[in-house]
This record gives sequence, structure tokens and C-alpha cells, in this order.
Amino acid sequence: MAIINFSRANKTTCILRGEPEYPHIWKNGDIIVGAIFPFHSSWEITESSYSSRPPSMKCLSLDFRAFQYSQTLIFATEEINNSSSLLPGVTLGYKIYDTCGSAALGVKMAMTLMNGNEKSATDDNCTKPAQVQAILGETYSSVSMAISKSIGPFSIPLISYYATCECLSDKTKYPSFLRTVPSDYYQSRALAEMVKHFGWTWVGAIRRDDDYGNNGMATFTKIAEQLGICLEYSLPFFKTYSQDKVLRIVEQIKSSTSRVIVGFLTQWDLEILVQVFSEHNITGYQWVGTEGWIADPIVATRDKHNILQGAIGLAIPKTKVSGLDDFILDVKPLKSVGSAIFTKFWESLFNCKYTMQNDSENLPVCTGEETLSEMENAFTDMSLMPIFSNVYKGVYAVAHTLHDLLGCKQSCQTNKQPDPFTVS
Ligand SMILES: *[C@@H]1O[C@H](CO)[C@@H](O)[C@H](O)[C@H]1NC(C)=O
Ligand SMILES: *[C@@H]1O[C@H](CO)[C@@H](O)[C@H](O)[C@H]1NC(C)=O
Ligand SMILES: *[C@@H]1O[C@H](CO)[C@@H](O)[C@H](O)[C@H]1NC(C)=O
Ligand SMILES: *[C@@H]1O[C@H](CO)[C@@H](O)[C@H](O)[C@H]1NC(C)=O
Repeated sequence: MAIINFSRANKTTCILRGEPEYPHIWKNGDIIVGAIFPFHSSWEITESSYSSRPPSMKCLSLDFRAFQYSQTLIFATEEINNSSSLLPGVTLGYKIYDTCGSAALGVKMAMTLMNGNEKSATDDNCTKPAQVQAILGETYSSVSMAISKSIGPFSIPLISYYATCECLSDKTKYPSFLRTVPSDYYQSRALAEMVKHFGWTWVGAIRRDDDYGNNGMATFTKIAEQLGICLEYSLPFFKTYSQDKVLRIVEQIKSSTSRVIVGFLTQWDLEILVQVFSEHNITGYQWVGTEGWIADPIVATRDKHNILQGAIGLAIPKTKVSGLDDFILDVKPLKSVGSAIFTKFWESLFNCKYTMQNDSENLPVCTGEETLSEMENAFTDMSLMPIFSNVYKGVYAVAHTLHDLLGCKQSCQTNKQPDPFTVS
């Protein structure tokens, strides 16, 4: 986003390309931790004319899970702030951006986290230190890869709590990528072993058509072959697929003879597929699933026709971060940032509107007094606690590293900005 411009005075200056981006949720501190979460899970697809600047991306489908992640990050920074032994006297702040699950937006937000938003840098040679010491993110493997490739050369660590693709372990491509979730190197192998264990030697598969699904399935296929399992079909699926393409998946499954379907998918894919499959009576299959959906109760509630009944799979072990569930439900810290995203979140959570427009679909007006205690949805559901725990561990990993780098004992030398090269 910053380019070097050789001006007439033969001086180099950095100029911001495009419009500045402001964090959705932020708090100031001595040291800022960056974070990138998918507050939306998709975006509006527009035709580009290539003759004018494309409009900024319009994000769709608010995802309450990302609000749980940001609450977890806020919780961890508060706890560290309160601690007298970890980073004594140092306040951690945060800047949280939305990616909408898009790699393009993810890279843009990561660049913004590093560069800041000044229209042009005042110092002549663009050498000011990065704004953040580390970035937490992202949920999706593909988005994490794009971000990691672009910030890798600056050695800003990207710490993911959920991106499991084995491909991200390649240190030559992603030198500053770290994670608090295990790699699919293990999951793909374990899934194949499990299928073998039950004696299912003739199976079909559906995979998410991105790095997560394609890489995970490639390893599964390799190991399955070695174990004597035959794959009847392996079909890709992605949320942007046309209806025709999805119907072809349905036809292929209907004409197949295997009764076991391995799904290297995420909960968002399953939500769509379960709907389509129930319309076409695709029932009675034994599903085998990955950590991306198997433990998510949202999928189960959408599965009105019990298509996934009896599904088995691998999940991240259960954990508990004490005090975190109460903190997540106490939305005051989110509210206090007073950002537009909070308004959207509240409106979506309680199905109400703050300001009435002519086109309002008869929704009630939000009072701000709505209570969460009567709600039951993805925001109040705590079954992704293992993932929250991974966000929590990520923040603590950053704090412990800073603690060491700043040479903290009874107090820390905060006048010294740590060099990112030493962080990762
Ligand atoms: C800028 O560089 C050009 C070409 O190298 C040179 O001719 C010119 O005198 C320089 N201008 C200034 C202000 O230094
Ligand atoms: C950390 O604690 C200080 C003083 O106790 C407070 O002013 C600040 O808002 C806190 N920061 C965070 C991020 O909680
Ligand atoms: C931090 O300390 C404040 C004041 O004692 C307390 O209200 C708050 O709950 C603490 N936060 C966490 C996350 O422990
Ligand atoms: C699904 O099954 C129901 C009842 O058995 C039937 O009425 C319906 O036509 C079937 N739908 C399709 C798409 O086969």
C-alpha cells in the first residue's frame, strides 16, 4: 500500500495508496497487538469494468464467532494488564480489523496494521518501525497464506488460532507464520486411520475448494491409498459455486455406490450443503468430518432432516479458560469502543434496528436494553471454547515474548521498541 515515489526534489517519500482503513475495534496501549478476524463470512460479488476504480468490497453475513474471538483477545489483554508479574507497568492495546474471509482484504488490513494510515510518511526513507509487534489471525488457511506471504518479509509474526493447513508449515514460504492449533499433517492421517479402523474401504469425499480442503484431502487420499481404502469420488465445493455446479455434486453422489462421505469442509460449507442435500433426499450416508465442522452445534441445528446423523470425526480437545465465557457474554468492552461494527452486531443479534429507514422490514427499534440471557445463538454458544483458548494462548505468547525482549523484571524498559526480527 505504500509506494516509493521519486519526486522532483529527488527525495523518496511514502504515499498511502487508496483510502485509509480504521480498525473496527481498538484500544490504545504502550504496545499494540494487531488482530484480523472474519467478522463477515462473505462478500458481494460485483462485475468489474476495469475502466474505473472498483468500489470497496461490501461484506455480507455477519459471523458472531469473530465477535467471540475479539472478546477473547480483549479478555486476555485485560488479564495481562492486570497481572503484576507479566509485563509489569506495560499496557497492551489492540487494533482489530475485519477480513470478511477474503484474502485480498486480509492483505490490505495486514498492510494497514504495519503501516498505519498517514497519507504520507514524514520521514524520508520509509523506515519507521511497524505499528504492531504481532498480528493474530486468521480463521481461514487461504487468507492466512496470503497475509503471511505479504508480511513475512518484514518478519511480523502472524499467529493463527484456527488455520490448520499443513501447507502453512513451510518455513521457506511463510517464515513468520506461527499457530496455536495443530497442523492438518496429523488430522489427514488420523482421519484415514479412522476410516480404515471401521473397515470402510469404499468411500466418497467432498472437500472445500480452497487450500484447507484441497491440501487436507490430498494428504488423506495419499494415506488412504496406502491403507487400502479406495476413493470413489472427491468433489470440490465452495460457497461461490453456481447452482449448476452444486447440482452436479448432487448427481454424482446420487449415482455413486459408496455409503461413506468424508467431508474436509468447514461449518459454513455444511450449512449450505445440508440444505441442498435435504432438498434432494441425500440421506442415510455415514459422514466423517474434520475439526472445521464436526463439533459445531450450529451445523446440527441447521440439519433439520438428520442428514448428518451419526457423523464422526476429529475435534480439537475440550478446554476451559476460566472466566472467559462470562466475559464474552458481557459485551460492555465491545460497546465501549463505540464502533459501527458494534451497532451492526447488536442489530443482528437482537433482530432490531437502531435507525428506521423507509425500507425497514418491520423490525422493532433497538433500545440498547436488550438482554442476552434469553438468547440462544452462535454468540451465546460456547462450544468453540477450544478455538477461543487458541486465541487466548496467542495473546499470551505475544506477551511472554515481549516480556523477555523488554528485559522485564520488576519493571520493563518500555522506551525500547522491540525489533520484529527478534519476535519471530
Ligand atoms: C534529480 O536527479 C536528476 C537526475 O539524476 C538530476 O538531473 C537533477 O539535478 C536532480 N535534482 C535535484 C533537485 O537534486
Ligand atoms: C490497563 O490498566 C490501566 C490502569 O489499570 C487502564 O487505564 C487501562 O485502560 C487498561 N488497559 C486495558 C487494555 O485494559
Ligand atoms: C482486571 O481488573 C479489574 C479491576 O480489578 C477487574 O474489574 C477486571 O475484571 C479484571 N479483568 C480481568 C480480565 O481479569
Ligand atoms: C424426496 O422425498 C420425498 C418423500 O419421499 C418426495 O416427495 C420428493 O419428491 C423427493 N424429492 C426429490 C428431489 O427426489
